[in-house]
This record gives sequence, C-alpha cells and structure tokens, in this order.
Amino acid sequence: MPTFQAPRGMRDILPGEVERWQALEAEIHDLAARYGFREIRTPVVEHTEVFQRTVGETTDLVEKEMYTFSDRGGRLLSLRPEGTAAVMRAFLEHGLARQPQPVKLYYIAPMFRYDRPQRGRYRQHTQFGAEIIGSPDPSADAEVLALPVRLLQQVGLTEVEVRLNSVGDAACRPLYLAALRDYFRPHVADLCVDCQRRYEEHPLRILDCKREGCHRIARGAPPVFGYLCDECAAHFEGVRAQFDMLGIRYSIDPFIVRGLDYYTRTAAEVYSGRLGAQNAMFGGGRYDGLAEQLGGPPTPGVGFGFGLDRLLLVGEQEGLARPLDRGIEVMVVTIGPTARSEGFRLADELRQAGIRTDGDLLVRSVAAQMKHADRLGARLALVLGDDELAAGTVTLREMASGEQTTIARAGIAPALLDRLRRQEPTNEGQGR
Ligand code: HAM
Repeated sequence: MPTFQAPRGMRDILPGEVERWQALEAEIHDLAARYGFREIRTPVVEHTEVFQRTVGETTDLVEKEMYTFSDRGGRLLSLRPEGTAAVMRAFLEHGLARQPQPVKLYYIAPMFRYDRPQRGRYRQHTQFGAEIIGSPDPSADAEVLALPVRLLQQVGLTEVEVRLNSVGDAACRPLYLAALRDYFRPHVADLCVDCQRRYEEHPLRILDCKREGCHRIARGAPPVFGYLCDECAAHFEGVRAQFDMLGIRYSIDPFIVRGLDYYTRTAAEVYSGRLGAQNAMFGGGRYDGLAEQLGGPPTPGVGFGFGLDRLLLVGEQEGLARPLDRGIEVMVVTIGPTARSEGFRLADELRQAGIRTDGDLLVRSVAAQMKHADRLGARLALVLGDDELAAGTVTLREMASGEQTTIARAGIAPALLDRLRRQEPTNEGQGR
C-alpha cells in the first residue's frame, strides 16, 4: 500500500483512460460551437455566499456537501459544487447583459461535493454545463436541453430517458407548497428526519427524497400541474411543443423537482438504466430568479449540467468504441554517443514537423531501445549509427513487419509525414 492515495471519492485519470475524456471534450467543444455557445471558465472557488444565496441555505448541497474553508484573509470560500451560480456571478460581474442577448455560455469543469462515494458518484466530478441567459422563451429551454440529448445520441447512447416537469414560479409555487404541506401533514411522523425538516422548510424537496419510505408516501402527493399559474402552464406547454417538434421523446415526471432552490418552471433530468435509479446523467432547468438572488437585475436563464464521469461510465458499459490512442509513431533508435546526440536533434525535427516521436532517454542498448519502441506501439523505428551518419542516411524499420530500408537523412521529416499520414489508421469498424 503506498503511503498516500488520492482523497476519498476523487480519482486520477491515467493515460489509457484520459483519451476517452479528450475525445469526449473535443466532441463537446464542437457540438457547443454548432449551437452558438461560447466557453466560460470561472474559478474553482467562489465566495460561499454565491451558493448559499442561490442553491439554497438548507439544501443538501450547501448544508452537507460543500467543501468550505476560510482563506488566509478570512474570506469564506467554497470549492464550486455546481456551475450555474458561478456563471451567473460572472455574467453580472462583467456586465454580460450588455452583450447581444441571449448570452449562451458553456463549461467543462470539475465540481466538488462531499457526498457518499459510490459508483458514478464522486467527490470531484466533471460537468459539461450550458446556460442560456437572457431569454424567457420556452424555445431557450428546449434548445439548451436538446443539446445534451443530441450529445448522447451522437456518442451512441440511446437507452436514455428524458423526464420533464415544471416547478412553478414565485407566483404559483406558494400555493403548491401549501397543498404539499396539507398532503404530508398526516404522514410527517413516517418521513425520514431529513424530510421532516423539509416539510417545514421546503416540502417540494420531499418529492426528491430517494428513501423508499418517503417515496412511497410522496407517490400520493398532488402533482404540480393543478397548481401552476397560467403563465407557468403555458410555458410548460411551450417547452413540450418544442420538444415534440424536435422529435425528442420525453416523459412527464412530477417527481423531478431538482435538489437546488434556484429553479423556476422547467425542470429536466435524464436517466440511463445502467446508472441505477438514483443517478441522473444530466439535470437542468430554468432559473429566472437566480440573478436577483445574487443582487442583479431580473434576468431569465435556463441550462443543464451533464456528469461526464457518468456518461463515460455508461459508454464503457455499452461497449462504445474507445478513441484511438495517440501514442508515438516514430522511435529514434541510436547507436553510440555521436548518433545519440544527432538522434536527439532528429527527434526534435520530426516533432516540429508534427510527427509523434520519442527517443532514448536512458542510454539503453539498441536491443532495449527496439523493445521500448515495440512496447510503446511505435509504427516506425529510425535507426541511426555511425554508418548512417557517415552516409547521410537513416535506417527505417517497419515495426510490424521488421522490414528495413535505407532513406536519406535530408528531407526526412516530410517524407515520413507523408508515409505516416497515408497509412493513418482510422476509427472505421470501431463503431464510430
Ligand atoms: P445537478 O443535477 O446537481 O445540477 O448536477 C448535474 C449533473 O452532474 C448530474 O445530473 C450528474 O450527472 C452530475 N453529478 C452531480 N453530482 C455528481 C457526483 N457526486 N458524481 C458524479 N456526477 C455528479 C447542477 O449542478 C446544475 N448546476 C445544473 C444546471 C445548469 N441547471 C441549470 N443549469
């Protein structure tokens, strides 16, 4: 057992796995650009208040799961547990309301939650999130929520279920909360301690409780739809109509109430059977009151956060193709000290020409260098000894066949590049 391990619930992503992340991230950057989203990067820490005011003082996320500390100047800071409040803080701080509206932003960023680790649940996870800030229209909800659905389809995951709900707004939610209290009142003693507290603070959250006992009681609760004001009901119809138009299948699920307080109207989650019932692939919705909670002017917004750790986990289970490993292409093998230093220069030249090249950093024998080339999966070895130096040549060895030819040292980079790119392996036959 090594002396130190990564903190509990946090993981190293090693070479071999990191290629999957890189490929997914590249796909996301491309997809987001196609939708007109621009990337935003916010600090990993924020003032704790940014989350307290928006996500909600009494939510599990803020109350139990945040990594909070005082810095040396006595400021109370928290590792970012989610992205939306941070993005809105940045939007207000930099006056992005003056830019052409709506503002469409996305991020791929680590989030930190001190939760009980289990499969697909980590204390550091990475979210791809996108936010449309400045449009109250249902088309914004449908557009931003369609994006992660298209991402799932694009990577080949089709066994997913989109669930939609509305959580009302400041006008109609109080009525619904009152109805929920009426419903839960005779059952309070049978609820878990958390839900007994939720009953007082925010009975909507009881609907989100994963404990079987609470869920059984909650199943009989009145659904929100009888309590939505006309505007919220019309908005929900609008979102549904847009989803229908896009041909995105969904079900309506009154238990999708989201665990964070800033939501208004649309709430959405997407599940995959492979993750188990408790774990969503992505979650999102509308948050028209969030800007005001941060001291800004009324500003509508809608977005989602997609757990990329979970996406990759499910992708692996469903046997999606692994992206190609961008290992080295060429190994420069040298014999003797003069050739070694010339080989060093040759490797540099090839790298500048765009060829993935490695050389010998351990002063090994030729046989050991060849073995190393083999183990790293190099396609070609370039052998350089005193003979080659004198003749101005290089011996080129095809690693797979062992076939050797002599080629000129001058102009070697373009010649190799041409040779390698002509025979580039492709993803064909790997599923995508
Ligand atoms: P959230 O539902 O708390 O929403 O998280 C979004 C997604 O992050 C989840 O659906 C899940 O895939 C992933 N996730 C959350 N916690 C973990 C964890 N401990 N381990 C692995 N994955 C996790 C938000 O954070 C909102 N900011 C989403 C949003 C954006 N709403 C509007 N805009």
